[in-house]
Amino acid sequence: MTGKWWQNKIVYQIYPKSFLDTDGDGFGDLRGIISRLDYLKDLGADILWLCPIYPSPLVDGGYDISDYYGIDPRYGTMDDMDELIAEAKKRDMYILMDLVVNHCSDQHEWFKKACEDPDGKYGHFFYLRNQSEGLPTNWRGHFGSRVWDPLPGTDRQYLHLFAKEQPDLNWENPELREEIYKMINWWLDKGLAGFRIDAIVNIKKPPFVNYEADRKDGLCSIHVPFAHADTEGLGAFLAEMKEKTFAPHDAFTVAEVAGEYEGLLSDFVGEDGYFSSIFDFRASIFGKSDKGWYDWAEITPDDFRNCCFESQRIIGTDGFYANILENHDQPRGVSRFIPGEDLCDTSKKMLAALYFMLRGIPFIYQGQEIGMENAAIDSMDRVNDVDSIDQYQVALNAGCTQEEALAAVQRLSRDNGRTPMQWNDGQNAGFTRGTPWMDVNRNCKTINVRAQEKDPDSVLNFYKKLIALRKDPDYQETLVYGTLEPIWEDRHSLMAYTRTGDRTLLVVGNYQKKAQSIEPDAPVKKILINNYPDVDTEGNSITLKSYQVLILEL
Ligand code: GLC
Repeated sequence: MTGKWWQNKIVYQIYPKSFLDTDGDGFGDLRGIISRLDYLKDLGADILWLCPIYPSPLVDGGYDISDYYGIDPRYGTMDDMDELIAEAKKRDMYILMDLVVNHCSDQHEWFKKACEDPDGKYGHFFYLRNQSEGLPTNWRGHFGSRVWDPLPGTDRQYLHLFAKEQPDLNWENPELREEIYKMINWWLDKGLAGFRIDAIVNIKKPPFVNYEADRKDGLCSIHVPFAHADTEGLGAFLAEMKEKTFAPHDAFTVAEVAGEYEGLLSDFVGEDGYFSSIFDFRASIFGKSDKGWYDWAEITPDDFRNCCFESQRIIGTDGFYANILENHDQPRGVSRFIPGEDLCDTSKKMLAALYFMLRGIPFIYQGQEIGMENAAIDSMDRVNDVDSIDQYQVALNAGCTQEEALAAVQRLSRDNGRTPMQWNDGQNAGFTRGTPWMDVNRNCKTINVRAQEKDPDSVLNFYKKLIALRKDPDYQETLVYGTLEPIWEDRHSLMAYTRTGDRTLLVVGNYQKKAQSIEPDAPVKKILINNYPDVDTEGNSITLKSYQVLILEL
């Protein structure tokens, strides 16, 4: 699998609401993104993925779209969007939008028309059942509530796998599918390079049957019915969508697909896969519990390593995972994957280098490149995220104290990654001159772009080096297409692998405070990356200092 335009690219994810506000309303906007294109270019980002900027009541951070053809005025205008695409193009950069087509908003005109006439055309765009039937299924949706609610003003009820303001679209209806494809093509014709595709495996609904309840609410986790999903039926939808939209445009697509679909990897991202790439979420969801966030297990350095290698073994060279440390649905990677007492620039750089050289497409989430950390969530009053509000309640219902419930939210809240970008140490971290929609992280005085640009040893400048290495013509073939071989897996708190193509590189990180030694089995030709000024060697042996990471050419 070689020769696709996107295979050697670096992707940067923007959460527009929190990126940069230029008009003082406290919300990030498109003009803010345009004004920072040079910053992103200088970093080395090629493809920019924008989380949803369509008109939306923002019940779920914009993943509840009320008009697929518009730009929410809080973000700007369609002219701004066209300008962003054009300005990116001038810099050899590409723009992706978020494609959210499992559901829309209850404020979308399709849904409003379905309420007016549930038997008419738009009634068939949704999953409607008579209220007199009782609940068609006892499933609990992704955000904790039951998945059926009354269709306003009618005797029907409708399906929603996420919030009740996010009604699910009926993909069984060919008319709906054609509407979706028309919309996708409209955007691609405008010059978008592709899409990040939201919650896409949800479009094929499992049979509407009940399962055993797993909480006092009498409902069962949504993962139970989806374990019985009709994957062939799903594949038919995905193949059709690809053929009618992405393929003719040679678009880059990255889909949000959870681990359960691993057996179908080649269908998803193989040579003729439905998508270019899917995310590797193995480390992000490690320790997950169906009981709720309060019950999630911690992840250790060995667990992190094992997750990365497990995914690499499964995909091999049959496709490209999108490799992430974090995104807008996760806590900050550095806060989650580095033990709290060890969190510092050195350990952040180690983590960055270890995931960045994995085989696949490196994704950077806004602020990750300066080592942004979790927000300090000390009260539920300041929490915005629907998921966090639900999970707080889930923890209380399970008998946790308020402190314990808050601790679970602090650890895993999606708000952790949604605090405004920290541009400088001034008012609101330079994000807005108004009142930010969400509190700025208090550590912005020390962690910010301006300070790091000036400091050659900053996390930001380290990321630039990692990107430059991936783009270096001498190493690009190896890092993009080369194989990956884990080594020394029986060691603790050590993550090491080789990448082999026309060169051989060794990536090794000491994932702990205590020094430890390694002996590469070939002589070191060159040190390409080091998060310390020096390397301790004795004969063949290298002693790695606290959280030292090295990328060596052998
Ligand atoms: C995806 C998005 C998340 C959103 C959900 C529903 O998981 O990443 O932010 O809440 O889909 O659209």
